[in-house]
Order: sequence, then structure tokens, then C-alpha cells
Amino acid sequence: MKTDAGKTEAAFSFATMGAECALVLASLHDLAFRGGEVWDEASMAALLSSPGTEALLVLSEQEPVGFILSRTVLDETEILTLAVAPAFRRRGVGRALVQRVQGKGTVFLEVAVCNRNAIALYGKCGFVKAGLRRGYYRDGSDALVLISSSV
Ligand SMILES: CC(C)(COP(=O)(O)OP(=O)(O)OC[C@H]1O[C@@H](n2cnc3c(N)ncnc32)[C@H](O)[C@@H]1OP(=O)(O)O)[C@@H](O)C(=O)NCCC(=O)NCCS
Repeated sequence: MKTDAGKTEAAFSFATMGAECALVLASLHDLAFRGGEVWDEASMAALLSSPGTEALLVLSEQEPVGFILSRTVLDETEILTLAVAPAFRRRGVGRALVQRVQGKGTVFLEVAVCNRNAIALYGKCGFVKAGLRRGYYRDGSDALVLISSSV
């Protein structure tokens, strides 16, 4: 991953996890989405128990610092959520996670229209707008549907 100097950072490692990491994921989700729609441990465990759902965790010296949750059905993968701990942002963690999921083929996701940081990240990863879901979130805000077909 990139550092500020643009060099590869070797301090991060990746691990595919199952339902046993639901609490870790819920804690990271809370940290990343504080004040927003946070998914608790039970929600994470339920998602991770459903077929095709996979969590990829990023660790920095054994400390969990981010994850991506995706669900694959046939030849399409949906990014369900993506979270990077605030102290580890802008170091390429988010992009590395998204790019790993993109290796699965066609990938789509919903992102809040106001989430400029995430939209910028997905744009850098080659996602393009495929639609708009009005009132998608609990607070009534809209979601952009983004898609990427890079393999
Ligand atoms: C969005 C999020 C996952 C980005 O994670 P990250 O590890 O900081 O992202 P990266 O360092 O890989 O950034 C990749 C690119 O995304 C864009 N980007 C990311 N954060 C940005 C910010 N705060 N401001 C502007 N651009 C940003 C930049 O283009 C960046 O490339 P650059 O650093 O070369 O300029 C992280 O901010 C986060 O967890 N946010 C809260 C949760 C969330 O919104 N998740 C997405 C829901 S769909």
C-alpha cells in the first residue's frame, strides 16, 4: 500500500474471516461510521453466515484497522460495506481492499450521495455510476449505485 511518499507499505496484512470476527467488524464499523448507520455484532454475524458473503480484514501489526464485506451471487459481487479506522486513512487501505474484491469480476455497490470520500475512492478504482436509489438510507438520503467490471 501507498504511504504519503507513494512507496509500498509492508506493515499491512490481509485475512479472510468468517462469523467468528463479527465483534471485530462491528467495532470497526462503529469507529468508521460513528453517528451513521452502524451494524452491530448480531447483524455482522448474520451476514457472515449467509452464503457467498465474505469479510476481508486488514491488520497492522496484528491490530484490525479496516475491512470490506462483500457478497457474491453467481457472477456478480456486491460490496456491502467498507470501513477503515480513522487513524489509518489515506494510506491506501481502502483502495487495496476494493481492488481485491474487484478481482472477482463485476462488482457493484451503493454509496450515499453525500459520501464524497468514498465516491472519490471508488472513482479511483474505476467504478462508474449505474443508477440512483432514492430514499435508500434510513435518514431518507439517496444512494448512488456504482459498478465496475474490471477483472
Ligand atoms: C472511504 C474510506 C473507506 C477510505 O479509506 P482510505 O483507506 O482512507 O482510502 P485510501 O487511502 O485507499 O484512498 C484512496 C483514494 O480515495 C480518495 N479519498 C479517500 N479518502 C479521501 C478523503 N478524505 N478526501 C478526498 N479523497 C479521498 C482519494 O482519491 C484517495 O487517493 P489518494 O490518497 O491517492 O488521493 C474511509 O474514509 C472510511 O472508512 N470512511 C467511513 C466509512 C465509509 O464511508 N465507507 C464507504 C461506504 S460505501
